[in-house]
Parts: sequence; structure tokens; C-alpha cells
Amino acid sequence: MTLSLDFFRSSIGKKIIMAITGFIWFGFVILHMVGNLQVFQGPEKLNTYAKFLKDLGPLLWVARIGLLVAFVGHVCTAILLKLENSSARPVSYAKNSTIQASFASRTMAYSGLLLLTFLIYHLAHFTLGYTNPDHYSHEYILKNGDVVHDVYAMVILGFQDPTIAISYVVFMVFLALHFSHALGSMLQTLGILAPKHNPTIQKISTGLGLLVLIGNCSMPLSILLGYVR
Ligand code: HEM
Repeated sequence: MTLSLDFFRSSIGKKIIMAITGFIWFGFVILHMVGNLQVFQGPEKLNTYAKFLKDLGPLLWVARIGLLVAFVGHVCTAILLKLENSSARPVSYAKNSTIQASFASRTMAYSGLLLLTFLIYHLAHFTLGYTNPDHYSHEYILKNGDVVHDVYAMVILGFQDPTIAISYVVFMVFLALHFSHALGSMLQTLGILAPKHNPTIQKISTGLGLLVLIGNCSMPLSILLGYVR
């Protein structure tokens, strides 16, 4: 008991929690992107996939609760770490000593906050159908005769709106920025690779950030430009 409390109280314990909860979300974003990319294969494919997810029933709820816990844990731990850092250094440096730190690392709190905004909007639009009920209300008949929620139509109608499509692209830039720094810190925190590998870790993190950026932006952009209808 004391051991686990000590773990949560220590800085390294908090960093490990940040790393694990962040990794859960990173894994989700990659899987979610691969699933969503089926939009390029047409309505039958994407809607069958969406139905498969829905049919997972209780398992889907386990995944949703896991994501929520990881999200809340990530944000709360980030706030605690920030407070700890500020109290350890009550007087800010006279000169900006963070010149060496990358732009991504210096803006983690802001990109994180923007991602929270994105997530609230995204769920209200695509999962709950609050922001655009007209995008959400369509049904599709699969080849096997099942009548399902037309997720394909929802995505197409959403990204045909330039404001929505461009906002997604902007949010995805922040997501890539957040990931590109977070993955490097995660691998360093967990001590998976020796410090001499830091430059390689940074390259891999930037590459993964770019992959998520390209994959996720390809959907709004190709729909907005009329390549996918
Ligand atoms: C262009 C990029 C994206 C597209 C096209 C997209 C599409 C979708 C769609 C269509 C749904 C609803 C699925 C359904 O009702 O069957 C959904 C749900 C969701 N998306 Fe995304 N998404 C994108 C990016 C993201 C990102 C970057 C995140 C996280 C940072 C995210 C997190 C979620 C979550 C948490 C849900 C709710 C899943 C559930 O509880 O069922 N999405 N997304």
C-alpha cells in the first residue's frame, strides 16, 4: 500500500503513468486511423466495420471505459507534474533557457488542451450526432440485408464542409506535434533504450507523428477536394 502511494507521489511514478496512459491513446489513434481509412474502400466496407465495432457490445464498453480512465489519468498526472515543476522552481528563469527544447516539447500543454477540445467536438459530431444531426441520421443497407447506421455518409457529409475539414487538418497537426514529442519522452521514461539512442528515438517519434498526420489528413482533404464522394 505504502509502496503504491510512494509510486504515485514520486515524479518517476507520475512519468510512468503519463507514458502508459499516453501509449494506450497512441495505440487507439493508430487502430482508429487504420479502421477509418476504409472510407477509401467505399460505404459497404466502412459501414460493415462500424457495425462490427458496435456488435462488440460489452467489449466496446470495456474499451471505452479503458480509454476514459487513461485519458483522465493522463490529464490529471500532467497537471500534477506541472504543479510539482512550478513549486520546485518558484521563480522563473530570467532568461529563456528552453531555447534548446523543441517546439513540440515546449507546447505539450497547449497541444494537449487543443486535443481535448478536438475530442469533445469529435464525439459530439460523430458519436453523439449533436452538432450536425443531418449528418448522423442516414441508414445504409448492407449486402447481407442488415440496416445499419450510415457512418460513411456521416464522414463524407462532415468533410464536404470546408470549415469541418480544415479544422480537422489543423487539429491533426497538433496531434502529430503532441505525439512526436510524447513518444520520445515515453521511451526515455520507460528506459526501453539507452540514452545514446535518443537521436534515433526522436527520428522514429517524428516519423510516427508524420504517419498519423498524413493518414488522418488524407480523409478530410480527399473528401473536401471531391476525390471521395
Ligand atoms: C480524420 C480523422 C478521424 C476520423 C475520420 C474519425 C472518425 C470517427 C468516426 C466515424 C467515429 C464514430 C464511429 C461510429 O459511430 O461507428 C469516431 C469515433 C471516435 N473517434 Fe474518431 N476519427 C478521426 C480521428 C480521431 C482522433 C485523432 C481521435 C483521438 C485523438 C479520435 C477519437 C475517437 C473516439 C474516442 C471515438 C468514440 C469511439 C466510441 O466510443 O465508439 N478520432 N471517429
